[in-house]
Amino acid sequence: MRGALFLFFLVPLQKIINDTSQLDMIERIQQLMAEVAALKADSAEEAEALRIKYLSKKGEITSLMNDFRNVPSELKKEVGMKINELKNAATEKINALKEAVSIQQVAGPSIDLTRTPYPIPLGSRHPLTIVKNEIVDIFSRLGFTLAEGPEVEDDWHVYSSMNFADDHPARDMQDTFFVESHPDIILRSHTSSVQARVMESTQPPIRVICPGRVYRNEAISARAHCFFHQVEGLYIDKNVSFTDLKQVLLLFAQEMFGNDTKIRLRPSYFPFTEPSAEMDISCHLCGGKGCSFCKHTGWVEILGCGMVDPAVLEANGIDSSVYTGYAFGMGIERITNLKYQVKDLRMFSENDTRFLEEFVSAY
Ligand code: PHE
Repeated sequence: MRGALFLFFLVPLQKIINDTSQLDMIERIQQLMAEVAALKADSAEEAEALRIKYLSKKGEITSLMNDFRNVPSELKKEVGMKINELKNAATEKINALKEAVSIQQVAGPSIDLTRTPYPIPLGSRHPLTIVKNEIVDIFSRLGFTLAEGPEVEDDWHVYSSMNFADDHPARDMQDTFFVESHPDIILRSHTSSVQARVMESTQPPIRVICPGRVYRNEAISARAHCFFHQVEGLYIDKNVSFTDLKQVLLLFAQEMFGNDTKIRLRPSYFPFTEPSAEMDISCHLCGGKGCSFCKHTGWVEILGCGMVDPAVLEANGIDSSVYTGYAFGMGIERITNLKYQVKDLRMFSENDTRFLEEFVSAY
């Protein structure tokens, strides 16, 4: 008590008041700084209430500024800077709160826009598409261009123009889907119909690759389906020979199944090629030694091929005395089975995503 009285007499009254209010003021500014930093608002109304509380005419920070004139002039600079900092911090904070609640209102309160997103699950290509793209890619590099045609075809493009005799067994109801009211309209049973369409509209040189879906009237099982996919190739020019065909097919087999793949051609028969052959590749699972996959022969069949029959060239408006050509055709399912050992053909059309997701590829 004595000390206080003593002080009271030594220091002028005004100075004491000023010093105390000065201390209070700095403390108050610091307190408000902390308060402002911790402000939260869940709605636009709450954010506006905060603005009124701190920054309106009667707000706490504004009233601090009013008290500023009582600050002794030697401290005005320091206190003034602090008040300004506080005012700026409060304005910034409250504006940020206002913006955050307005975004939340648009997006709905349950969405946290700041959360890192889960990885978006990407789809995978269908295995048949992957293999088709790979086949097309290999032949494109050899100068083949893509050709496509309709799946619903007429007898001429599927059979007659391809040199099928009128009584050829492939025309039988067993194989071909007919439109009952229009027996001439059929679902194509091979992509050779695209060859016919290209030949009738283009003069050689022709070098096309024709991928597509084909239909055959077969009971569905693990080994057969009523639809499947083929890729057919056609090359017509002057002086095209069987050697050219062999060379292109060897290159294809090695690109598709690896550089040490060997090929073997066996004589065969197709109405539209003469001579015709079927091509085997050395079994890439056992390297040709023999395994259950190649039925212990060391070879697996992958395609049919041959020199285009002159009758086919003529039927499609190409002079067979000037031009020769080769053609080949393969089943995409077959090539896919060889690459990925899919045991059951039905897997390709069942849309089971557990199966489909296993195929991730650059193609
Ligand atoms: N079109 C034949 C088939 O469906 C395949 C093939 C095409 C054979 C071209 C030889 C030449 O089996």
